[in-house]
Amino acid sequence: MFRVHSKNVAALTLGWLLYLAGQRSCVGEHLTKMKLFLFITHLMHRFTFEQPEDSPPITIKGTNGITNIPQPYEIKVTDRR
Ligand code: HEM
Repeated sequence: MFRVHSKNVAALTLGWLLYLAGQRSCVGEHLTKMKLFLFITHLMHRFTFEQPEDSPPITIKGTNGITNIPQPYEIKVTDRR
């Protein structure tokens, strides 16, 4: 396992920060990334995600906290079967 030597945390991307937030790196990083990939692709395969008509536009601007929290949004999910 390798450690983060940089003290400039802002220079690290969010992807790195997630798993390297502490003194040690995460043993489960690859397992978690594979599971997230399967989970998200399964949802995309099974459902259609679209913005309902007349709903306010979705923004990718988040609210900064410990994590970057998405703004509230409306989404229409339809079963593809
Ligand atoms: C989204 C999910 C996960 C995130 C964000 C995450 C994040 C982290 C972070 C930041 C650390 C370092 C903690 C520190 O230095 O104090 C860590 C350590 C660790 N993680 Fe994860 N983790 C996740 C999932 C998992 C999973 C699924 C497993 C096991 C299957 C796992 C096993 C471990 C182990 C064993 C350590 C300690 C490594 C060591 O001490 O050398 N993690 N994780």
